[in-house]
Amino acid sequence: MENEQANKRKVSTIAKRTSIAPRYGKLLFRFVNYFQPNNILELGTSLGISTLYQAAGNLNASVTTIEGCPNIAKIAESNFEALNIENISLHVGNFDECLSVILKDFEKLDYVFIDGNHQMEATLRYFELILEKVHDGSIFVFDDIHWSSDMSNAWKSIINNKQVSLSLDFYQLGVIFFRKGQAKEHFKLWY
Ligand SMILES: C[S@@+](CC[C@H](N)C(=O)[O-])C[C@H]1O[C@@H](n2cnc3c(N)ncnc32)[C@H](O)[C@@H]1O
Repeated sequence: MENEQANKRKVSTIAKRTSIAPRYGKLLFRFVNYFQPNNILELGTSLGISTLYQAAGNLNASVTTIEGCPNIAKIAESNFEALNIENISLHVGNFDECLSVILKDFEKLDYVFIDGNHQMEATLRYFELILEKVHDGSIFVFDDIHWSSDMSNAWKSIINNKQVSLSLDFYQLGVIFFRKGQAKEHFKLWY
C-alpha cells in the first residue's frame, strides 16, 4: 500500500513538472508551422502537451509520438481525442526497445523532438539512431539541453557532429539543422 501511494502522482503535478511551458510550446508550434514538415517524431509524449502544440502547427503532418508509461499515455490519448486532433499516432513502449523498430517505418524524418530520458548516453544513442533518417531539410529539437551537466555535454557532442550545419541554443531548447555545404555555425539566442 505504501509503495502504491508512493507511485501515485497527480496529473496536475505531472503537467507542472514535465510538460512543456506554454512559452516554449508556442515556439514548437511556430517551428512546425514555419517549416511545414510532412512527418514528425517525438520521443517523450507525457500528457501530450508538446505533441499537441506541434501537431497543431501542421494538421497535415503525420505525428508519431512515443511514451513509456501506459497510464500517462492513456491520458495523452484522451487529450488528443478531446481536442479532435487526428494526425497523431501514439506508441507505448521504451525508446530503448521500440525506437529502432519505429524508425523502420520512415525513409527520412523531417522533424524530430527529443524530450525523454535526459541522460547523456541515452540522448546520444537516440540521436545516432535517428541520424540515419536525416535529410538536408531535417530539423531536430532537443528539450532541456542545460537541465544537467550530462545534458549540456550531450548537447555539446550533438552540435559538434559533422552532419550538423547550424545549431541554435535557446537555453531551454536546442535546435539543429543539417544543410550540406553550409559553413558550420552555432548561435545562442535569447527567447
Ligand atoms: C519530460 S516528459 C515529456 C513531456 C512532453 N514532451 C511535453 O512537453 O508535454 C518525458 C516523458 O518521457 C517518458 N520517458 C522517459 N524515458 C523513457 C524511455 N526510455 N522510454 C519511453 N518513454 C520514456 C517519461 O515517461 C515522460 O512521460
